[in-house]
Amino acid sequence: MNRRLVSKRIDLHCHILPGLDDGPENLDESIRMAEIAWSERIGNIVATPHIRENIFSPELIREKIRVLNEALNKRDIPVEIHYGADVSVRLPTELMRSYTLNGTGYILIEFPYTHITPSMVRERLFAIMTAGLTPILTHPERNPSVIRDPDAFIDLLSEGMYLQLTASSLTGEFGEEVRACASYLLKRRVVDLIATDAHSVRWRPPLIEDAVEAARRIVGEDVAERLVSENPARVLTGGPLG
Ligand SMILES: [Fe+2]
Repeated sequence: MNRRLVSKRIDLHCHILPGLDDGPENLDESIRMAEIAWSERIGNIVATPHIRENIFSPELIREKIRVLNEALNKRDIPVEIHYGADVSVRLPTELMRSYTLNGTGYILIEFPYTHITPSMVRERLFAIMTAGLTPILTHPERNPSVIRDPDAFIDLLSEGMYLQLTASSLTGEFGEEVRACASYLLKRRVVDLIATDAHSVRWRPPLIEDAVEAARRIVGEDVAERLVSENPARVLTGGPLG
């Protein structure tokens, strides 16, 4: 395994590529986001543009990553950008294969912000798993259905599905209900990853330290750190999560 992958924090969910989705507008802002991430000890970032009704081609995403990595290299910013996407659960399963994280079987799956129904979780996620992919559900704590009844949501989960919290949910940026839900999911030990889901230098910047501190108070230092370093490193290399 690449030494940098195990020695530094990894942000598995970050809208860092310029001019694609609702992330940064230009390359300069992407570079400043990488600088902020580095100041939080994040050495690897997975670029995850939204794949919803606008379906950016894998070639376009890879080209943007190449340009950004080159710019970071030139400025001696020791952050490396990797391939990924933030994929709508509604995307046809056969298209999803092109948008896995770093070419592994793991895929970030975004549910609608308004609700999650049991059939969505069962039917869509099982279809994804049957296709040989491993879904990572993004920010369940920000979904009103989960906030209302987190235990019912947890009951829907099965082996082979993983959960990723948004870092700023744990620090209260989305309000007290979301913070409480994120803490509860951690307490129930169903959280596998924490990522920034950053979109810009101002609107949700790639900060993670305070979230790790909040997680530490709930699950202890080792588990908290594993959620932002060891587990995302395993995702990037396609290994099983601890
Ligand atoms: Fe996202």
